[in-house]
Amino acid sequence: MTVTAFECLACPLDGEPLNTRGSAWQCPRGHSFDIARQGYVHLLPVQKKRSKDPGDSKAMVAARQRFLQAGHYQCIARALNEAVVQDMSSGAACLDAGCGEGYYLRQLGQSLPEDVELQVLGLDVSKWAVQSAAKQDAQPAWVVGTNARLPVLDNSIDRLLCVFGFPVYEEFARVIRPGGRLIMVDPGPDHLRELREVIYPTLNERPDSARTYPDTFQVVGSQSVTRKLTLEGEQCIADLLAMTPHLYRAPAAGIEKLKALTHLDVTVDVRVQVLIPASD
Ligand SMILES: C[S@@+](CC[C@H](N)C(=O)[O-])C[C@H]1O[C@@H](n2cnc3c(N)ncnc32)[C@H](O)[C@@H]1O
Ligand SMILES: [Zn+2]
Repeated sequence: MTVTAFECLACPLDGEPLNTRGSAWQCPRGHSFDIARQGYVHLLPVQKKRSKDPGDSKAMVAARQRFLQAGHYQCIARALNEAVVQDMSSGAACLDAGCGEGYYLRQLGQSLPEDVELQVLGLDVSKWAVQSAAKQDAQPAWVVGTNARLPVLDNSIDRLLCVFGFPVYEEFARVIRPGGRLIMVDPGPDHLRELREVIYPTLNERPDSARTYPDTFQVVGSQSVTRKLTLEGEQCIADLLAMTPHLYRAPAAGIEKLKALTHLDVTVDVRVQVLIPASD
């Protein structure tokens, strides 16, 4: 397998194609973006930043990295990899929009057959996440950017992954080329049920169809991944909490209860859905 860096980047200021010049990416109008020492490029203009340090914090990224590295979500990576490579030709381009510290792209790269080449781009709004991803794997292109305005040329992506992410369907439709696919990974109704039972006084039942999609996309495949995980140790349980929106939503008393646990059996229940642009 060969993972190469995706090259069809677009200037975040005017959408023009970017080309490498020395240690920078430049557009024909002269906007220039330096490639950082760790090998990523910052393509999030200040005016598009909604906070000073957007996205996951350094501590959240570290927690996610420890948890994923331990292999607890390998079942999700496997299902995702299968969805990505189905009907995929060599030379395809894959974007992980909200890639975090790059776990799923690394797993994808390692699972590809010998004779398949994949151009890879990992993008996240958190510079901490992108820094960590670039340090762990130098092959893909890594970009700090936003799904709200992807710094990617129109019709340049064959597989767009959005894993526990923040989809912007208009942008996704713009960058996915005809014949390309959007692959969404989202929590199902029972995802982390036991963790939620600890931190909330009463559990809100989740509707089964967590996501609804706009008419511009059509679901062509769906797979559920369900598994029971056994988590040992306070750190591991705290790391899982830090990967979820419950970290900020849950009442303090619930968080304290969870922190006191040294063992937790928890359900993984996620949905991997494959969508195509409705115009295809
Ligand atoms: C729940 S995490 C999932 C990370 C990764 N997909 C994973 O599963 O390991 C959501 C990620 O989306 C990023 N994010 C938040 N808003 C974003 C945006 N507007 N554009 C791109 N990424 C964003 C966060 O920084 C964070 O890394
Ligand atoms: Zn430009």
